[in-house]
Formats: sequence, structure tokens, C-alpha cells
Amino acid sequence: MAQNRGAQDLVANGEYIFNLAGCVGCHTDKKTRGPRLAGGRAFKTDFGTFFSPNITPDLDTGIGKWTFADFRQALRDGLRPDGAHYFPAFPYTSYTHMTDDDISALWAYLQAQPSVSKPNQAHQLNAPFGWRWLVGFWKALYFEKGPKSAWPRGRYIAEALSHCPECHTPRNWLGGQKTDMAYGGTQKNPEGLTIPNITPDLETGTGKWKSGDFEMLFSIGMLPDGDFVGGVMGESVSHSTSKMTLEDRKALITYLQSVAPVHNQVKPKKAEKSGTDAW
Ligand code: HEC
Ligand code: HEC
Repeated sequence: MAQNRGAQDLVANGEYIFNLAGCVGCHTDKKTRGPRLAGGRAFKTDFGTFFSPNITPDLDTGIGKWTFADFRQALRDGLRPDGAHYFPAFPYTSYTHMTDDDISALWAYLQAQPSVSKPNQAHQLNAPFGWRWLVGFWKALYFEKGPKSAWPRGRYIAEALSHCPECHTPRNWLGGQKTDMAYGGTQKNPEGLTIPNITPDLETGTGKWKSGDFEMLFSIGMLPDGDFVGGVMGESVSHSTSKMTLEDRKALITYLQSVAPVHNQVKPKKAEKSGTDAW
């Protein structure tokens, strides 16, 4: 039936968006082999520890009672169904830029996933960041809502779906992105990680990378020196970039190569570490 076919297509499109957006990694507690999408993964940050919630369609412990409007409001506005603010540990600051069509497809996909009964765990936050209402002030400063029609596909993938700047753009002490240093990396992000500069700066960024170098990284996780990325970038590759169509990956790479170079040395290059390079 044509209608079923339409619904199946919607779910399949939703799965693609879901993959690129990397929802599964954050909402599954892999460490304890927790059930898929049932939440409980801990995020230790400077602000305290966040636990991802259950986003399966379970009626009591998941989002089974939500309407599409509730879901859209969560992604687009960063608001709970009762109107309270979500913490930006949930990267709605990126997802807000998704189109309505992509949000609908994602919703269809999530509703088609198995329900798991698993209660949510409360966050353990340091005051004053534990006060949900303070997020309102934060959003007034840093939250830019809604889709951007002028964005090319590559930027849409990087900044609405795969949320690359959430990690690669350095933040100020309040956790707001320093947009004048977009993709410039940082020695220590709020989760304590060293994040490389991926702007096309020749000395401190990826200015010497060829398109094929990016393609190798994003498809199989291999760096130009033959190492493989691990940790959170490894997750981004396995959940998101490796699942992109060739066309989308190309669009992403073209976009990355077009951003403004930022001169910011976040860690010594490997050659310097091993002493083969004098300076
Ligand atoms: C970087 C980790 C991360 C990623 C990626 C992520 N989430 Fe979340 N999500 C969270 C955290 C943490 C919360 C809790 C926020 C809070 O309590 O304020 C959350 C909250 C939610 C909620 C609210 C659930 C409720 O019970 O109120 C929904 C729905 C949700 N996420 C869906 C998604 C979808 C869909 C995706 C992919 C498009 C996604 N998330 C990607 C970390 C993440
Ligand atoms: C959750 C945080 C996070 C997200 C999201 C993320 N990255 Fe990364 N990225 C890292 C970290 C950490 C490294 C360093 C990994 C390593 O060396 O093993 C890295 C490494 C890289 C590198 C290699 C740079 C170099 O000089 O070695 C590139 C290129 C890159 N990321 C691009 C991207 C793109 C494009 C996206 C979005 C599709 C993205 N990253 C999303 C954290 C992240």
C-alpha cells in the first residue's frame, strides 16, 4: 500500500538522521551494557554529572506519552513538555537547526524502536549550574533558534545534525561557544578532553590535509599518520560520519575545508613529540 510505503520511507529517512545526529551513543549506557536508547550514560563535566534519559517509547519511563509537538519542542527550543529548560548537555543548540521534515522523520524512527522500561537517573550538578532555570539566561546569551535556510548541505550536516562544533569549537567560562574561533579546538573542553583544531590553518589545523585524508578518517577512522581515532571521535566516526552517504561526506568535507582558518596550537604535533622536528 502506498501509505505504508510512505511510512516506511519516513522511518528509513529517520534512521539516517538518527545516525548522523549520533543519538544512540549518548542515550545508551554502553559501559554497563545498558539497553539501547534507554539512557543512563553519565557525562562528567565541569558543571557536574549528567545522565541521559530514556528515549524509547516506553509509556512510564520513556517518551511514550509524548506528542510530536513535545518532541519538536525538545529539539527546536530545548524545552521539556512542562516548559522547563533542558541543559545544553543535550545538544539541542545544534539540533534546533534541523528542518521540520528531518525532525518528523526522526520522530517516526524513534517511535518504531522497542520500548524499554528503565527509570531515569537524576543529574548530580554543582550549584549554581544545578538550577534548571538559570539555563534560561544561558539560552538568552548563546542559543540561536531555528533552521538556517542559507546553509549549504555540508554545514547543515556539521552543525545541525552531527554537531561537530559542540566539541571542536572552544567555549568560554559559561560554556558558550566562541564563534570567532569556530572549529579551532581546545586544550581542555568541559569534559576534560583535548580537542584538535580542524580549521584549514596550515600550521595548527588541518590545512595540509587532502580531501582523501578526511574521507579516510570519516569512513574508517584512520588519520593521515596511520593511527586510528578513539574515544569520542571514534564514536562520532562509527555512529555518524561512517554512515553518511558518499555525497553527504563530500559535502561535509568541502564545508570543513571552507571555514576560516584559526591559528590555535592545541597540542604538539606528533613529530615534535618524538623529537624528529627541531622546533
Ligand atoms: C552529547 C550527548 C547527547 C546526544 C548526542 C543526544 N542527546 Fe538527547 N539528551 C542528552 C542529555 C544529557 C539529556 C538530558 C538533558 C536534561 O535533562 O536537561 C537529553 C535529553 C533528551 C530528550 C528529553 C527526554 C526527556 O525525558 O525529557 C530527548 C527526547 C532526547 N534527548 C532525544 C535525543 C535525540 C533524538 C538525539 C539525536 C538527534 C539526542 N537526544 C542526542 C544527551 C544527548
Ligand atoms: C564528542 C566530541 C566530538 C565530536 C562531536 C566530534 N569530534 Fe572530531 N575529534 C574529537 C576528539 C577528542 C578528537 C581527537 C581524537 C584522537 O586524536 O583520537 C577529534 C578529532 C577530529 C579530527 C582529526 C584532527 C587531527 O588533527 O587529528 C577531525 C578532522 C575531526 N575530529 C572532525 C570532526 C567532524 C567533522 C565532526 C562532526 C562530524 C566531529 N569531529 C565531531 C571530538 C569530537
